[in-house]
Amino acid sequence: MGWALLCVGLLLALYTLLRHGLRSSPRPRARPALRGRTAIVTGGSSGIGAATALELARCGARVILATRNALRGEAAASRIRTETGNEEVRFMHLDLASLRSVRAFASTFLHQEPHLHLLINNAGVSAGGTTEDGFSLPFQDYCDSKLANVLHARELATREQDTQVTCYAVHPGFVNTALFRHAPLWLKPLLLPLAWLLFLDPSEGAQVVLDCATRDGLEPLSGRYFTDSGPQQPWPRGRDDRLARALWESSERLVGLGGA
Ligand SMILES: NC(=O)c1ccc[n+]([C@@H]2O[C@H](COP(=O)([O-])OP(=O)(O)OC[C@H]3O[C@@H](n4cnc5c(N)ncnc54)[C@H](OP(=O)(O)O)[C@@H]3O)[C@@H](O)[C@H]2O)c1
Repeated sequence: MGWALLCVGLLLALYTLLRHGLRSSPRPRARPALRGRTAIVTGGSSGIGAATALELARCGARVILATRNALRGEAAASRIRTETGNEEVRFMHLDLASLRSVRAFASTFLHQEPHLHLLINNAGVSAGGTTEDGFSLPFQDYCDSKLANVLHARELATREQDTQVTCYAVHPGFVNTALFRHAPLWLKPLLLPLAWLLFLDPSEGAQVVLDCATRDGLEPLSGRYFTDSGPQQPWPRGRDDRLARALWESSERLVGLGGA
């Protein structure tokens, strides 16, 4: 009996420690009114993107859900309109695994929308295979793509430093979403209970994204990497300006935007 109680006590202590370490439960914060502002949220049909889009719509923004699945995109837009009473929420097709689709999206957006104030590059996937343009999707590439996000924000901020454009790389925390639905079958029995017990819910994960997108006063921190605890120092490779420039230049070449 004594051993059983001790085991339960230890398990509870371990759970509390892990829960505290993995999720600091960011509280929803007061947000500024965003009427007259237009936001694009890529991958806004589920998870952190949907929670971000909902909150932006609640603040009065015009919100474009840029997603690849029309059914899910339309359904999410309709849900957000109903929940917020904001009729300025719409779906626009974008498949980020196809440069043809990215160009079509950009062209449609530029024809239909006079302004863009907020771009939330949220869409992501942890799967396998390759995109139609030959870019690889295994798990290691997911991790590399996150380093690329940090370096991209750093380089973009440098290139835009004399303008009013600011950008931030964000880690939302560990969030219970559909992101790991492509995880190997053997991993799921471990991952799903962990996610359910310990991870943030999507609206909690969206808070740091919304902070970076809407908070005044962050401008001097443009290009930095944020978590819910504020700006953070990334690992050394995430602070490497030469690597950031090289990534930018090779990205330009790979997507056919010129470059050396
Ligand atoms: N969850 C976490 O713990 C965590 C931690 C760190 C960073 N993140 C990042 O947070 C972002 C949002 O992820 P999530 O956790 O909210 O996962 P999610 O629920 O799976 O949402 C991902 C969204 O991205 C969309 N998407 C995927 N591939 C796309 C493509 N080729 N074109 C257009 N849209 C595409 C998905 O659309 P479909 O519905 O069509 O698949 C979905 O709407 C990702 O960038 C992820 O890497 C998440």
